[in-house]
Amino acid sequence: MRKLVVFTGAGISAESGIKTFRDSDGLWEEYNIMDVATPEAWTKSPELVLEFYNKRKAQVKGAMPNLAHNLVAELEDNFEVRVITQNIDDLHERAGSTDVLHLHGIVTQARSSVDENLIYDVGFNAINLGDKCELGFQLRPHIVWFGEDVPNMNRAYELVSDADILIIIGTSLNVHPAAGLINDAPTKSKKYLIDPNEIRVPDTDNLIMIKEKATTGMQQLVKLLN
Ligand code: OAD
Repeated sequence: MRKLVVFTGAGISAESGIKTFRDSDGLWEEYNIMDVATPEAWTKSPELVLEFYNKRKAQVKGAMPNLAHNLVAELEDNFEVRVITQNIDDLHERAGSTDVLHLHGIVTQARSSVDENLIYDVGFNAINLGDKCELGFQLRPHIVWFGEDVPNMNRAYELVSDADILIIIGTSLNVHPAAGLINDAPTKSKKYLIDPNEIRVPDTDNLIMIKEKATTGMQQLVKLLN
């Protein structure tokens, strides 16, 4: 079977009611990144950081996968599919995708604030001040913050560099290193980018832009792939 990699950002979950980051009503209009999504913010005001991610978690809990997530999952009938997502929601998994790599973490996990290997499934329960890991230290969200390493990046490069087809959905390609993945796809591989807005992409061979929302764009793409 042909190897297909789907690389997603906040835009694929927009039609599920989850806010993107950089659109005009996005989260980074409402919050300052430096106040809620950095190690410095965690040191300065862990309550605010926990409140921010507990709200994200509640939003994800109330959301359902949309047709775009479902169609991505259905691609597994005909392709060897790997999903790489920047999203911290679990909507790809709930739609049925079986191989999902989260580059920026996931809201349903917590981890020790002193040992990054101590990771816990906490589901949709809030993380509160006083919730501790087995070593007795405060739990933090299992999220990659600005300024932190992206531990799954090497695996993502491996997957993309071996892809026959790369589909990119709903990302402004603003955040590195994730945004650089498109450069790692083989020159001969087919590439599709679905986004309703103009996205600036580095010079890339074999790239087809589908300027649509994720649900419409995925329906068009499924027809193209068939
Ligand atoms: P952005 O908010 O930067 O970009 C969202 C993209 O989705 C934009 O290109 C929109 O045009 C597009 N979009 C909006 N509605 C859409 C729809 N219905 N269908 C398809 N696309 C739509 O989000 P990301 O690129 O995912 O990182 O942001 C990357 C990272 O920046 C996030 O993972 C997060 C953030 O700060 C961390 O928190 C570490």
